[in-house]
Amino acid sequence: MKNRLEVKTESEQTYPVIIEDTWPGSEYFPESDKLLIVIDQNVARHYGDELSAHFESFGSEILWYEVPFGESSKSIDQYSRIIDYALKNRVRRNTPLVAVGGGVTGDLAGFAAASILRGLPLYHLPTTLLAMVDSSIGGKTGINHTTGKNLIGAFYQPELVWANMQILETLPHSEWNCGMGEVLKYGCISNHDLLDSAEKIFDSPDLGDRANLKRVIEESARIKIDIVSRDEKESGIRAYLNFGHTFAHAIEAFTGYTRYSHGEAVFVGLVAALWLSEQKGAPVSAEPLIRFARYYKLNTLDLCSSVKELVSLMGSDKKNLTSKIRLVTLSDWQNAQIVELEDTGLLESAFQYALERVHNPA
Ligand SMILES: NC(=O)c1ccc[n+]([C@@H]2O[C@H](COP(=O)([O-])OP(=O)(O)OC[C@H]3O[C@@H](n4cnc5c(N)ncnc54)[C@H](O)[C@@H]3O)[C@@H](O)[C@H]2O)c1
Repeated sequence: MKNRLEVKTESEQTYPVIIEDTWPGSEYFPESDKLLIVIDQNVARHYGDELSAHFESFGSEILWYEVPFGESSKSIDQYSRIIDYALKNRVRRNTPLVAVGGGVTGDLAGFAAASILRGLPLYHLPTTLLAMVDSSIGGKTGINHTTGKNLIGAFYQPELVWANMQILETLPHSEWNCGMGEVLKYGCISNHDLLDSAEKIFDSPDLGDRANLKRVIEESARIKIDIVSRDEKESGIRAYLNFGHTFAHAIEAFTGYTRYSHGEAVFVGLVAALWLSEQKGAPVSAEPLIRFARYYKLNTLDLCSSVKELVSLMGSDKKNLTSKIRLVTLSDWQNAQIVELEDTGLLESAFQYALERVHNPA
């Protein structure tokens, strides 16, 4: 019995999210003379032979495009190269585009799928923890522009999301921590039990406790599905997924996107957002998250002298609709809400608290 979840969007489109230890069989794809595989270069290095043999067994011609690893591939240049490759190889409107990789490949290939011939059927095979629990679900696709991240894109839902957990075996340790930032977020906004299960994964970030890992991926995916199914285009509760992220984006921008990974910045942001929620009267505390500082091993103390600058960067977050700072807090564990704040002093204190408490360098 497959672990099958289902996304049903407001526009009544449905697609399965399947978490398995294998690759999807031909029965999941429409009949087509070609298959366009867009695959992360590192994933191709580890699994290219296995995957191409798998897809060749479907009997279709395989078009194979490798995306150089890294965020810089979410670019107009890569987008345009994929389009050139697809059109020169005469894909048709029914040619499935299979995106195999993390969030970078998924977002880039998803946007290409959305626009080639006004839309090719898209199949996500996420290969990072972050992509399995977050980016492959919900239909956000896109690339970066020189003026900012994710500024060009489309909402475009896939036909299938298939997570082969086995592939996480080769995921670098730093990438586990990245995905775990989102798992901790789900633990705060939706299911507090995830925090304990997450700790077991941090203790052995490999496929050791397979049952626990599967539970965590499944529950995280279920939470994301629940939220995006109720708010496909981010007009309301989908913003809850930004819990901790407004703080995180400011930290990433201030440190030039190089000093911390996104997941590390999210971890600091979650602590700040929990502290803020408590100050605003919610019966929550940042303590249950502080214990994860020993896994993240971050050096953050020097940023304490820059909390004013960090808060001013929060003000320029593209999700702010007014001059007030709009962010997500908890009214209680598992209950997120959107608030608008003008009290920059309180936000500075939230940064100060988080930067002091998570500091735990190796
Ligand atoms: N669409 C959405 O809703 C959404 C949500 C969250 C994040 N994102 C986007 O996701 C991107 C980040 O995604 P990510 O964290 O998956 O990073 P990523 O795609 O850059 O992958 C991280 C690294 O792991 C490597 N890798 C991937 N799978 C591997 C495997 N199984 N074994 C060995 N190496 C592997 C990649 O080559 C890369 O070097 C960002 O661009 C972000 O904006 C999108």
